[in-house]
Amino acid sequence: MRILSIETSCDETAIALLEVSGPLGNPEVKILGNSLHSQVKLHEEFGGVFPMLAKREHMKNLPILLQKTLLEAGEDEEKPRLDCIAVTTGPGLEPALWTGITFAKELSEKWEKPIMPVNHMEGHIFSVLPGLKTDQELTLPALALLISGGHTELVEISDFHTFNVIGKTLDDAAGEAFDKVARMIGVPYPGGPRVSALAEKNRLEKPDPAFLLPRPMLHSQNLNFSFSGLKTAVLYKIRDEKRDDEAFKEDLARAFEDSVTDVLVAKTREALDERPETKTLIVAGGVAANTNIRNHLGNLIETFPDLTLLFPPQDLTTDNAVMIGIAGYIRAITRPELLSGTEALQAMGNLSL
Ligand code: KG4
Ligand code: ZN
Repeated sequence: MRILSIETSCDETAIALLEVSGPLGNPEVKILGNSLHSQVKLHEEFGGVFPMLAKREHMKNLPILLQKTLLEAGEDEEKPRLDCIAVTTGPGLEPALWTGITFAKELSEKWEKPIMPVNHMEGHIFSVLPGLKTDQELTLPALALLISGGHTELVEISDFHTFNVIGKTLDDAAGEAFDKVARMIGVPYPGGPRVSALAEKNRLEKPDPAFLLPRPMLHSQNLNFSFSGLKTAVLYKIRDEKRDDEAFKEDLARAFEDSVTDVLVAKTREALDERPETKTLIVAGGVAANTNIRNHLGNLIETFPDLTLLFPPQDLTTDNAVMIGIAGYIRAITRPELLSGTEALQAMGNLSL
């Protein structure tokens, strides 16, 4: 199946043309064309994503990225060979989502091809598929730990179209907490990778952390998360210590990252303990790029010998159109009734799995 996929839910504009075939647990994914434009630099000065600016940028970039993708795939812009158009309809920033949807509708009418609406979080879940070796397979039931700028959730996956959110953040998402802490210690947006680099440097230089920060919700008796208290703890630490030197920033970054990691690992362990039938643990979303979190989840998995741990390839961790195309393929196979004309499509900022 040939799919043109479009992603505009946040600050990345992305279009890909894929040819996907074979079993859902390990499909063959040929990336015929793939273009992405990140607005990170633009949003840096606002310290976060500014929705109307994101919208304007998406509108400007979509036609350019389409041209690039089709050129790379050797396809004609007037009538490319494809079966459907997959587009992210939520969750995300509504003005940004609408740009992708409107663009998909125009193409659908011009090329007379149906549209498959895709949930962005399903995209993150299935972003692990291109990383599988030929003899591997995504075996179900699975548990997904989704950690991104907008979401932190634990999801039970019983088959390829049934998702059950069993735990989620009550306030900030893990990535959002990284970005806010980054701002507090004066490193630019998006802070995740930069805070993580400071923490790693500190671990190399010091065997033990200078101080600890709280581990929110660790004993909450449920699978929910909360990171806003941890963020406040960082703020108080800065206020009380009255320091802004590099060594202090590194200590702080490490203590913060250790807390986030501990909570993510503990909740994942709890969810796995309660679900001994689980065969695969998927960890996806932008924060899944984090080395410390990856390493600790790797250690966790050693205590579950029958479980396979899957991460996306590094270039598919943050938002991209390849994962949207793959999720579109899985939807087209499992729920073909969702393939639609253009009428019913709409942006759903708070869409859940
Ligand atoms: O999945 P994503 O690209 O966008 C959303 O759907 O939200 O995730 C972006 C988030 C940002 O908050 C960014 O700071 C965080 O992922 N991030 C990281 C790392 N790389 C990206 N957080 C911690 N460590 C990293 N290495
Ligand atoms: Zn995302």
